Order: sequence, then structure tokens, then C-alpha cells
Amino acid sequence: MQETNVPIPNQDAEVFHPAPEIVASANVQNVDQVRREAAIDLEGYWARRAGELEWYRKWDKVLDESAKPFFKWFVGGKTNIVLNALDRHVKTWRRNKLALIWEGETGEVRTYSYHALNREVCKFANVLKSMGVAKGDRVTIYMPRIPETVIAMLATAKLGAIHSVVYGGFSVEALHGRIEDSESKVIVTADGGRMNGKTVQLKKIVDEALTRTAAPENVVVVRHLGIDVSMEQGRDFWYHELMTLPLAKNSMRCETEVMDAEDPLFILYTSGTTGKPKAILHTHGGYQVGVYSTIKDVFDLKEEDRWWCTADPGWITGHSYIVYGPLLCGATSFMYEGAPTYPYPDRWWAMIEKYGVTVFYSTPTAIRGLMRFGQAWPGRHDLSTLRLLGSVGEPINPEAWRWFHKYIGREKCPIMDTWWQTETGMFLLTPLPATPLKPGSATLPYPGIDADIFGEDGKPVKVGEEGFLVMRKPWPAMMRTIYKDPDRYVQTYWTKFPGVYFAGDSARRDKDGYFWVIGRVDDVIKVSGYRLGTAELESAFITHPAVAEAAVIGLPHEIKGTAIHAYVILKPGQDGSDALIEELRQYIGHEVGPIAKPEKITIVQSLPKTRSGKIMRRVLKARARGMDEGDLSTLEE
Ligand code: WTA
Repeated sequence: MQETNVPIPNQDAEVFHPAPEIVASANVQNVDQVRREAAIDLEGYWARRAGELEWYRKWDKVLDESAKPFFKWFVGGKTNIVLNALDRHVKTWRRNKLALIWEGETGEVRTYSYHALNREVCKFANVLKSMGVAKGDRVTIYMPRIPETVIAMLATAKLGAIHSVVYGGFSVEALHGRIEDSESKVIVTADGGRMNGKTVQLKKIVDEALTRTAAPENVVVVRHLGIDVSMEQGRDFWYHELMTLPLAKNSMRCETEVMDAEDPLFILYTSGTTGKPKAILHTHGGYQVGVYSTIKDVFDLKEEDRWWCTADPGWITGHSYIVYGPLLCGATSFMYEGAPTYPYPDRWWAMIEKYGVTVFYSTPTAIRGLMRFGQAWPGRHDLSTLRLLGSVGEPINPEAWRWFHKYIGREKCPIMDTWWQTETGMFLLTPLPATPLKPGSATLPYPGIDADIFGEDGKPVKVGEEGFLVMRKPWPAMMRTIYKDPDRYVQTYWTKFPGVYFAGDSARRDKDGYFWVIGRVDDVIKVSGYRLGTAELESAFITHPAVAEAAVIGLPHEIKGTAIHAYVILKPGQDGSDALIEELRQYIGHEVGPIAKPEKITIVQSLPKTRSGKIMRRVLKARARGMDEGDLSTLEE
């Protein structure tokens, strides 16, 4: 099992009780009762939640378990997530409400009412349609954090096509693999973007990726930075030109495709144990119900709120809680393009003040990073509009929790530490505003979620003992399969403990039933909360001509949580010079992405392996940390 960075749960850990006014105004006040009711009547609970949304046709059956683990939700229901995210709002007064407020790194501001966003989405859906995109086709979206990303996702969904968003921090080979696997018809990208203080030439990366694969038919390019890019005639088109062409008489209107509840909405690639990332598939019906319910209950969204999730749309957090969740609730969402430290480390706090943000959802890495600069930076700003805070992506260390609570929340905002995954689509372990909090714990399961911690023997472990986090019952926003690889879906998630969902995390539970997630038990590394696979990095290393073999592990890092360390065996005749090591770092940055650049590369003569040739990363980790190497009976050396 994983060695821990998280303190052993203290049974007497300090408990933060929410203020009475928070509880009194919460969307859900009697959490325990709701949880009990949902446990007794799971289908009834989810049917009620689904009933808060619109459907073209109501479902016949809430949950079909006949082909498990290929569960089906809201069987026979007809819907489209865009019906609930846009169409139903523009019929009401909300057409005049701001859906999206966007600020660029250099200070440019753009806003969209629900009406305006809907118009842009309709226009772009017509553009995609003119390129032959139809129900079931895939569209790759490789973009910076700008409104067009949201527009492209919604336009794709509106047509019943499947979006595959690739994070703009990924690079050539990672992008190539994802375009090829998804067999996308169209790529939507931008000339470039501002990512964490750097300018990334996205179109150039797309061009290079497309030299490695059978090209999609069209590339749509948003002019964002205004930098020079090469445009291939007949294949590449400017977004702004397409959007002003009178494509059809009704180019500002577009019917929303009527979808079966179980029709795919998107695929999102995520890292696992093999070199090939998995395309996690989500559907229209269940996903919208799960995401809508969780954001509404956990972040307590109200009509007058201004919500800010600092993630990137390229990850599941952005899909569920920047794009779909807030729109499903008819909320106003703020989105920022650039780095939190540009031009000064108070940029985020200044924008909370400027826009009057009320609910703020971020990551432990970001908090730790900004903590370094001291509390004087948030201290300069009026953050009194804030009502609730949130954290996601990795365990939050109690020290960062307390800083966030004291200096950002001014000791009056509860922190919702939400545990979930690309696969789960929605929060599974999470407080609600009325839940007493313990810093570092994601607290309790959301209503309807049956979570437990199992030992190797498939039985629940004792209080305080470490084990594998599992889910006994399905939930509506769960992944349906791995696109094009259903066997891998069954194998990865449903085989270790038959019939039970295996999350890949280890955890403990304390005497109050609170869950304390420790970390991954597989070869996934969470670098600054970004999910990367050791195998994908290792495969990239060995495509470099100087490299014979490589092994990658994650080691604790003060700010990033975990950092990548690589051990490389060079080919004969190669020197292990500093220049070569730097070249290898740059190479990984170029192939996989800047987020994947190793913290440290060590040249070695051999790697610890089992007799069957599998690298024992556990041994490398223990050695690097000067810890006990454990059972070495399978080691070959
Ligand atoms: C980790 C991100 C502790 C966990 C939404 C999980 C967390 C993986 C938390 C999924 C949390 C996410 N506390 N660990 N609150 N949230 N994780 O797919 O290891 O990018 O399995 O989804 O992040 O990462 P993914």
C-alpha cells in the first residue's frame, strides 16, 4: 500500500461546526435524513433529483442493473444536457442573467448572458454541422481557458456529437494519441493561449500532432493571442470568419438534438496503469442529474451567487463544475484565463473582490502555492462576499486547510473538500454546508453513495485501518465504459472486488465514519492535482534516441503534493551529461506537456524489476525516501 503524506486521522481532530446562519440558509439542511432516505430508496431519491430537470420524454425505469457493471440510468428518457444548461433558461427571465464572466490574463473582460451564450452556441453548432459533424461524431477541443472552449463543448453536445477535450497543457504526442484514438472529425483550437504565465502555441502543436496521424477533416482556429500561425488551405479555418458567415438563413438558431438518456455526451482521456490513456465515457441523462444535484447541494448555489471554479475545462473538474454544473443550475460563473500570480500574487483575491465572488472552488496545490507569499496579499482585499470555499484534486493538508479557512474564508466560510474522479463524474465523498468539518477529511458520502473501505480480502477494514476505497452501489453520473475498450472498464474498476467499484485510492475511516483519503494505489501520479500516468511518461522517454529504459515515480513535494522523478538507463555510448538530462526534460515537455516535465532525472545502470520484468516502482520510491524496501522476494537482482 501507499506510504502516506497525510497524518493518521486523529480521533479528536478539531471539528469546525458551520455557523447557524449557514445551516439555516442551506439548500439542504437535514443532510442526515436525506442520506438515510436515499439509502433506503436509492431510485426514488434519484428520480426526485432528475425531476428537477427537464426531459423531452420521462424515463421508464430509473436504474437498469441487468447488464452490470454496464449500468443504465433513466432508461427510456429523452433529453440533452443543453436542454437543461441553456434552452430551459432562455425561455425565462434568466435569458438576461449573466451565464459567464471571463477575464483574460492581461485584463480583458468578456461577459455572456444566457441569451448571448445560447446564440454563440447555436451559431457554432451550425458551423460544426456544415463540416459534417452529426450525432455520435467526435470533436477534439484543444484550447486555452477562454469562452470559446465552453461554446465549443456546448455546441458539440447540442448536435449530439461527442466532445473530447484535451487539456491545453498537454503537448504533441499526448494530443496525437488522443486525436487518433477518438477518430475526431474536427479539431477546435486557438492560435495560442496563456497557461500558467507562459504563452503556449497551441496551433503549432496541433500542426505537429497532425503530421503523426491521419488528419481530421477540419481544424477550427480561434484567434486569441493574435500570433502568426500557418493555416492549411481547405483544412484550417478561422473561428471568427466561420461565425460571421451566413451559413444558413437561420444560422443563429439551431435545434437541440433529442438524445437518449444513455447516449454519450463526452469522452475524457485520463491516465491509468498502461501507457495508453483511457477514454472515460459519460452520457447525457445520468451525468446531468449527478452534476446538477451535487453542485446545487454542496456549493449551495443560489440565484444571486457568483461561482468561481479555478480548474481548467480540460479536466473533469472543469467539465462538471465550470461548464455543465453552473449552467444546469442557471448560475453565474466566473472564469479566468491566466496565472494566479500575474502580475502579483493577489490576482485571484483581487478578482474575488472585483466580481464579488461568493463561492470559490480551488485546489490544495494552488492554496499551498499562494500561501508561500503570505497573508498580506489576501489581506489587502475585501473578500467579505465569500460564503463557501471548496477544494479538490488531492488530499488537502491541514495546514493549507487552516490557512484557506482563516485568510481567505475569514473564519466564516466552510470548506467543501470534495473527493471524486474523472470516472465518477460528480462528487462522491463530500461535506454539505451543514456538515461539521475536520481539516483534511472529505467527510462523508453524498446522499445515495454507498462508500466503504475494503482490505485485500474484500471485507470492510476496521476503524482507523487503511484499505481500498470502494463504492457498493452505482450513481447516475458514473462513467459508462472506456470508449472502444469495455473489457478494460470491467477489468480496471469491477474485478478486484467483483460487483463493487474500485476507485484506485487508499483511505481510512475514523470513529465518526469520516473518510480520510490517502492517495492512489496504482501508477497514477497527481502532480499539482493534475492526473498523470507513469506508463505514459515512460513510453515517451523511450522514444528519445538516447534512452534504453525508464521508470517514473512520484515523490512528495511541498507545493505540488507529488512531483515526478525519473530513472533512466541510457543506450550504450551515451553520456549522462547535464546537457543530456536537460534535453530529456525538454523532450518530455515537448512530447507530453510542460506539466509532465520531471522534477529530477537520475541516470542509472539498472532498475529494480520482478523476475517477469515488471519495474518495481515501490522499491524505487522506498530507496529514494530512505525507507524500508519491504518484501523483496520477487526482486530479480
Ligand atoms: C484524487 C479529479 C483526496 C484521488 C476530480 C482521485 C482527491 C483522483 C480528492 C482523481 C480529494 C480527488 N481528496 N484526493 N478531495 N479529489 N482526489 O480523475 O486520488 O483528475 O482518485 O479527478 O484525485 O483524479 P481526477
